[in-house]
Amino acid sequence: MVERTNPFVYGRVVTGDEFFGRKILVKQLRGHIQSGQNVVLFGERRMGKTSLVYEVLSKHKERNILRFDFNEVKTIEEIVARAVEGIRRMESRIPLKERLMRLVFRVGGTIDSGTDPVTGLPSFSITPHISDPVTSIAGLFDFIEESHKQQPLAVFFDEFQGLLGLKDSRSLLGAIRGRIQYHAEIPYLFAGSVRRRMYEIFMDPQNPFYKSALPIEVGPLPFEEFAEFLRKAFSTGKRRIDNQFSRTINELIYENTGDIQHLCSALWEVSQPGDVIDQQHLNRSLELVWQTEEPFYAARRRKLSVVQDRVLRALAETGGKEPFGAVFRKKAGNVGPSSIQRALDRLEKDEFIFQPFDSAAGCERYRFYQPFFRLWLIRQNVIPIPPTVE
Ligand SMILES: Nc1ncnc2c1ncn2[C@@H]1O[C@H](COP(=O)(O)OP(=O)(O)OP(=O)(O)O)[C@@H](O)[C@H]1O
Ligand SMILES: [Mg+2]
Repeated sequence: MVERTNPFVYGRVVTGDEFFGRKILVKQLRGHIQSGQNVVLFGERRMGKTSLVYEVLSKHKERNILRFDFNEVKTIEEIVARAVEGIRRMESRIPLKERLMRLVFRVGGTIDSGTDPVTGLPSFSITPHISDPVTSIAGLFDFIEESHKQQPLAVFFDEFQGLLGLKDSRSLLGAIRGRIQYHAEIPYLFAGSVRRRMYEIFMDPQNPFYKSALPIEVGPLPFEEFAEFLRKAFSTGKRRIDNQFSRTINELIYENTGDIQHLCSALWEVSQPGDVIDQQHLNRSLELVWQTEEPFYAARRRKLSVVQDRVLRALAETGGKEPFGAVFRKKAGNVGPSSIQRALDRLEKDEFIFQPFDSAAGCERYRFYQPFFRLWLIRQNVIPIPPTVE
């Protein structure tokens, strides 16, 4: 018998058959796009923001889609390169070269014909010449406006917080906001993986983007939806998972869509047709995940001071609750409150942990960005920690 392929995917955008649930959000987002409403999607990492937008846009036939990814952009030239990439992937009846020539005309630069050094086929390349960043950015938005007049557009700016890394980011954001506000018929969708930075852009009254888009929260899949997804996916390989077990792994992984897929992919690998997924499978699947991630965890840990490491381990074990309480302090080797505070600040800054925004988190003050790292730390902690003298 041929074994069915693993149905769980992670680490990339999912759409179509791979995209599950989120019916209400899909409907809402579709409505906003139709009416030209700007939307900003907030959510924890790997929760499914980009997939949601791609899923909705891929089914939206009335508008052409222009997507930009601003992850880690450092210069205006790089923004132009991302715009070129977005334009290249756009479906349009206007030939690519013509669209790119229009872009270059607006933002400044040259387009050169030549041969591709790898394939030897005819090709062309673009060299931006930026004299004034604000003028070039304005040119980019002129291009968007012009394209929209030819064919209705929806624009998706992903990893939008990446713009904060540019020199003079505030004036550039101001220039962008200045143009977008006149594009009432073009829906602009914004998403980003660093919530704190996205809040800075959209929720801070000092920022030009303050309240400029309707916020939508992309949270965990509702449990019923999620349990159904797991049941169906495991059953394609004749494996069974009961609801109680689904609930257990869901909580273990903070209900994170991407991490659940990652864990389930491993559970699939360590199980056989006919199996009911249980604790043994869970242990083996975690080992499998850690096998590839361990060098990375260890390298990150080596950069921590003794106190930071103790605080991190205590957070892992106590679930991030009451970090100044007696239980926590004991686990951290009786370090004083000010040392704990300093360590927490540092761990937060270095993106080991964050303070969850959702009310479902209850009394949990800190969470790990990577739940598998947290579980790995718990597994490491078999040696009792001697107390420190403050
Ligand atoms: N609707 C969905 N159905 C099934 N799996 C999903 C869904 N949404 C997200 N996922 C899973 O989560 C992973 C991350 O999705 P995606 O990249 O869309 O999240 P994101 O919120 O944009 O992440 P980041 O904050 O890192 O940009 C996907 O690779 C997939 O495994
Ligand atoms: Mg994303």
